[in-house]
Amino acid sequence: MSSPTVYLNGSYLPLAEAKIPVLDRGFLFGDGVYEVIPAYNRRFFHLPEHLQRLDNSLDNIRLAVPYDHRQWQEILTPLLDDTPDQYIYLQITRGAAEKRDHAFPRNVTPTVFAMAAPIKPYPDVQRGVKAITLDDSRWRLCHVKAITLLGNILLRQQAVEQDCAEAILIRQGHITEGAASNVFAVLDGTLSTPPNSEQILPGITRDVILQLARDNQLPTAEQAISPQQLQTASEIWLSSSTREILPVVELNGAVVGAGRPGPVWQTMQGLFQEYKRSVSA
Ligand code: PDD
Repeated sequence: MSSPTVYLNGSYLPLAEAKIPVLDRGFLFGDGVYEVIPAYNRRFFHLPEHLQRLDNSLDNIRLAVPYDHRQWQEILTPLLDDTPDQYIYLQITRGAAEKRDHAFPRNVTPTVFAMAAPIKPYPDVQRGVKAITLDDSRWRLCHVKAITLLGNILLRQQAVEQDCAEAILIRQGHITEGAASNVFAVLDGTLSTPPNSEQILPGITRDVILQLARDNQLPTAEQAISPQQLQTASEIWLSSSTREILPVVELNGAVVGAGRPGPVWQTMQGLFQEYKRSVSA
């Protein structure tokens, strides 16, 4: 199998040749942040927003990286190939120090890694997926796109083991987000999603959905959603860069709405696909 070209610390090289020292703090501590940036027909989707979120994540973990947005674009563009729908995975860690110590090392160069991968349409998007609700056991800084994802991984795995596509998380009596997605619910006809806070990742797909809804006169609300409200929702969706907008048709074993992707999802799915086409043509 041919090895795709990836970027590591200033070089483009085959994936199989990309190596990092075992003392890299990403490996030892999960001390780093990442981004997942879609590209359609070789055009990045909302690149400035993804890079702004990256800057915020880097600021939050107090990691200085000397690249501005134009330089990031120059680094990432050569990784794109002819695949119509793909994404860039970009990860930055605090680098490899001489010894293992929790506190920040001095004079260490961050490790920068990036690769492209195809976005495959989620197999059950037209039929809808199942989800469960679980207690949000993650740390408190969920607005930071940290590579430290053990909390998310354990929650997603619990969902998968119950034949579900996602775990929808509950903290202090409110829905936060999915293990790797944002959550929307149609409540009394209003497309609702929890407000941005430290408890959720400010999803770029989430913002695009809200903007498209507002531009098309669909009522929206960024508001706290209780698990009880979620149970009464006529539609529930999950959103992310790689899964786009995924309708949930079963929650905790109970049917959502009519048990199939609802009319508001149909409308939004059409608007979203049209928007993607318009910005990548
Ligand atoms: N995850 N919330 C969490 C916890 C996420 O991990 C993601 C995306 C989102 C959606 O954000 P966006 O719409 O900007 O992709 C929300 C990516 C896809 C991942 O970890 O692979």
